[in-house]
Amino acid sequence: MNQVMDVLTKRKSVRAYETREISPEIRAQILKATLRAPTAGNMMLYSILDITDQSIKERLAVTCDDQPFIARAPMVWLFLADYQRWYDYFLASDVEKLCEQRKIPLHKPEEGDLFLACCDALIAAQNAVIAAESFGIGSCYIGDIMEQYETHRELLNLPQYVFPITMLVFGYPTQQQKDREYTSRFDEKFIMFENQYHRLNKDEFDEMFAENQRRLPKGKAMEGIDNPGQAMYMRKFSADFSVEMRRSVREILKNWKA
Ligand SMILES: Cc1cc2nc3c(=O)[nH]c(=O)nc-3n(C[C@H](O)[C@H](O)[C@H](O)COP(=O)(O)O)c2cc1C
Repeated sequence: MNQVMDVLTKRKSVRAYETREISPEIRAQILKATLRAPTAGNMMLYSILDITDQSIKERLAVTCDDQPFIARAPMVWLFLADYQRWYDYFLASDVEKLCEQRKIPLHKPEEGDLFLACCDALIAAQNAVIAAESFGIGSCYIGDIMEQYETHRELLNLPQYVFPITMLVFGYPTQQQKDREYTSRFDEKFIMFENQYHRLNKDEFDEMFAENQRRLPKGKAMEGIDNPGQAMYMRKFSADFSVEMRRSVREILKNWKA
């Protein structure tokens, strides 16, 4: 083991924080590591909103599927996949005139560009997670930032070619969070395949989910549910927040392509 492996393997999501602030020096170090992340074409196709206004944190705690710990996090960074900056720069650089001169079409950002910008934003975010962890600061991703696009666009002044792909909340973990058990992971043989994709069959699924099957919770909400597939479908995939996320992302894409 080395220190990097130690940080990577000991990380877990942290959702309750000490009241202690994150010092400007440590924040600067986390930002430095974030901005050193690899980036497609060295274009840095992302922006980060440092949410310091408590009233905005409180709004986000509600709009991101009612997760009150967001408002209690001392540091909240919202990662935007951002093609607006480059596209504005292209236009400011007279690319329209150049295209006319060369008789070639003027391209606009499309879905492929959005995916690339999302890669950039997420890779930078994960650098922030690991840098923070190395200073004993825990974090949690908030995927629900992709919901409620219209509200977030207004609240955060988001232009057309900016997609709020993820949010990170940071803070020093409480003792209870430090003591919390690690989440499980699927065995690597179900995740990594050699050379070609392998679709899993029923027997392999039974093996993959054997432990989850043994630990299947009981209770009223679980009535009629007899396996982890049904449980996950109900709890996540078909839950209201997933339906809202799909609607919201469709709206962002419509806007992106307009
Ligand atoms: C893209 C993404 C979105 C997530 N969104 C949320 C979220 O909205 N709320 C939350 O409490 N945790 C969220 N998480 C954290 C996961 O629940 C967590 O990583 C997972 O349960 C594994 O636990 P661990 O990080 O402690 O290993 C998210 C994680 C990722 C990668």
